Amino acid sequence: MTLDELVEAARSLAREGRDLIARASSGDELATARTTLVGRKSGRLTELMKALPALAPDARREAGAAVNRAKEALEAALDAREAELRHTAPAEPRLDLTMPARRTWRGAVHPVTRVIDEIRDIFRELGFTVAVGPEAETEWYNFGALNFPVDHPAMDMHDTLYLSDDTLLRTHTSPVQVRTLQSYPPPVRVIVPGNVYRRDFFDPSHAPMFSQIEGLAVDEGIGFVDLKATLVNFANRFFGRRPTRFRPSYFPFTEPSAELDVQCGVCGGSGCPTCKQTGWVEILGSGMVHPAVLEACGVDSERYTGWAFGMGPARVALSRWGIPDIRLLYDSDVRFLEQLAQ
Ligand code: PHE
Repeated sequence: MTLDELVEAARSLAREGRDLIARASSGDELATARTTLVGRKSGRLTELMKALPALAPDARREAGAAVNRAKEALEAALDAREAELRHTAPAEPRLDLTMPARRTWRGAVHPVTRVIDEIRDIFRELGFTVAVGPEAETEWYNFGALNFPVDHPAMDMHDTLYLSDDTLLRTHTSPVQVRTLQSYPPPVRVIVPGNVYRRDFFDPSHAPMFSQIEGLAVDEGIGFVDLKATLVNFANRFFGRRPTRFRPSYFPFTEPSAELDVQCGVCGGSGCPTCKQTGWVEILGSGMVHPAVLEACGVDSERYTGWAFGMGPARVALSRWGIPDIRLLYDSDVRFLEQLAQ
């Protein structure tokens, strides 16, 4: 190569090099450009340098200066582009902070337990305290003291689980009414959560054990108005002002007796299989405590009156959340239960 050719080659290398460097859009591309242009072994600049020794000393000096200028220009352009890329290129995304966290199921309070807790809390605010009683009871507490006639069908082996001739698994929480009145003189206001047992083997939608929650208020001058007002107040707080209705009913231990219905939470009252097309779901039995029960407990029925109720928290849970089948509450399927978890 002649002097002129070398000087020209150095200039055009600087020009082309600047374009190549400007086009590099990543650190990798820029590294490749650096090797191609100024790489020590086979870079294009090195090729020019190799041609220098063939020139005469004066020409060599001039050509050498031109090659050096090209080298400096290229290195400056490479460094500048490198700084630019480091500044603008986003770091490789190693942590995606927008990715939703993996949900772990830690368990929660069962819907029926939640209902019991909420009912208990509402009545606690109304001045009721919690009482409990044994699940293994005598016939007298479960039936006799509660004014059941001796031959009442509920005492039949088909309904009651007997542990011995006289001991049975309580079929309702009402025996705790008797135990409470025996232990505490009126005024009495208690709420009684507990498990009860029935031999309902033939019906797939009934479990042989289920929970109940009993209420009892005994004092001077208590009337049916107190029962109605308290239970409607409870229903409004618990169900959020859904329509309710009282229906006359019968229990041996209350007179008069009434059942409280709440509008079906599944269909909203239009009728569906859950409410058997009636639009209403029964949530509790209630009534004025029968004078014979008060007397059996040693309470003066001329002076004191009272009212009581027994509620099924599972049925209440169905109405509350519009659950179509009571078995869902007992199947322990987490996919169902976690929908109601708080
Ligand atoms: N013990 C009744 C039952 O199990 C419910 C009830 C309780 C009714 C208190 C009236 C008063 O069906």
